[in-house]
Amino acid sequence: MSELGKTIGRYEIIAKVGQGAMGAVYRAQDPTIRRIVALKALPVEVTAGIEADGSGRSNAGFFEREAQAAGALLHPNIVTLYDAGRDGNWYYLAMEFIEGGTFAAEIARSGKVTPTRAAEVVAAVADALDFAHERGVVHRDIKPANLMILKDQSVKVADFGIARLTSASTTMTGDMMVGTPHYMSPEQVRASKVDGRSDLFSLGVVLYEALTGKKPFQADTLATILNAILSTSPPPPHEVDRSVPKELSTIVMKAMARKAEDRYPRGRDMAADLRRYGAPKAQTAAGGSRSVAIAAGIGVAALALGGFFLLRHPATAGPPAAVAPTEVGYLEFVSTPAGAEVFLDGNVVGRTPYTAEVAAGPHEVEFRKDGYYPASQSPRVEPNKRVVVELPLLARKEG
Ligand SMILES: Nc1ncnc2c1ncn2[C@@H]1O[C@H](COP(=O)(O)OP(=O)(O)OP(=O)(O)O)[C@@H](O)[C@H]1O
Ligand SMILES: [Mg+2]
Repeated sequence: MSELGKTIGRYEIIAKVGQGAMGAVYRAQDPTIRRIVALKALPVEVTAGIEADGSGRSNAGFFEREAQAAGALLHPNIVTLYDAGRDGNWYYLAMEFIEGGTFAAEIARSGKVTPTRAAEVVAAVADALDFAHERGVVHRDIKPANLMILKDQSVKVADFGIARLTSASTTMTGDMMVGTPHYMSPEQVRASKVDGRSDLFSLGVVLYEALTGKKPFQADTLATILNAILSTSPPPPHEVDRSVPKELSTIVMKAMARKAEDRYPRGRDMAADLRRYGAPKAQTAAGGSRSVAIAAGIGVAALALGGFFLLRHPATAGPPAAVAPTEVGYLEFVSTPAGAEVFLDGNVVGRTPYTAEVAAGPHEVEFRKDGYYPASQSPRVEPNKRVVVELPLLARKEG
């Protein structure tokens, strides 16, 4: 199924381009109209939302409804969903293929981006969210890895409709949470009802990180991060990084207000404030990167890394979870010399030396550093075990 040369649905797999926590993304071709697509394959067994009644039986109607809502979103800053279906034990989504990178990669490239660039990207995303929210679609997983940066530097939001496919048990039973912890809104952490303002909170977190290179809610364990989101206010970006203009800092803090009613009511209001600051109307710009893993935390039933994590919501003692918590271990990345970008399963997660909490199982690691040849390894991580990936980097010859 995930092998090259195979097909998923009618789509011919050409290459694997990425790996999220829930499934893989392939470059594929629609043989009928010869269109290149990004094909996302989600194993039925982790697609909790499709078994929303917890019975283990699949509820394809739910999958179709989510795909239909996402498929109706035609907007210049949203990755278009072309098709969705099921093939054996996989649900798949065929999307517009984006040649380029992610905003996570753009931030990681230099550690942060300029205020003008951050405002430009985030204003375009705020407009896209306004468009979706107006049509009743909340994204629920806004984070730099889901903001695709095209070659012309413009941005498109990916994965509309995906979060609920993999997290419906949260909404259905209140028993499980699925999400990306650092960007979650307080209402998501509490597993209460969310609306568009939850996405705007997450977008505020993205803007904070883009401007300062730091995540506002950082901690060693998942529980501590979630607690920080619920009960702390991070220092405003201009206090963390003096190069951040105060006006932008104010926009970030408004977007990230703990109470939804204190935030921007709509994406367009946030976009307007960012443009008042100076973000251009038609977005354009340059790529950078970084999606950070939760630092090692023992006993956290979580799977992180720019991906999803699953955990039993602390406040609810519901029926048995539809999805078992994923077992985790740790990967420690060391290179000589240090400072190499760490690509974990296709996504930049940080720079060496660096430790990440990962799902137990096989992983692909690559180190990249300017002036050196890339080095890679394919470690397997056992539950609760630590694996050190230590690689020397060979300098490229000049000329
Ligand atoms: N439409 C697309 N076109 C081209 N590449 C894509 C597209 N969507 C995703 N990708 C690539 O696949 C990678 C993995 O995407 P995926 O959505 O599975 O994971 P993620 O966004 O990092 O985490 P999550 O599992 O939380 O969504 C992305 O980082 C990106 O490089
Ligand atoms: Mg994604």
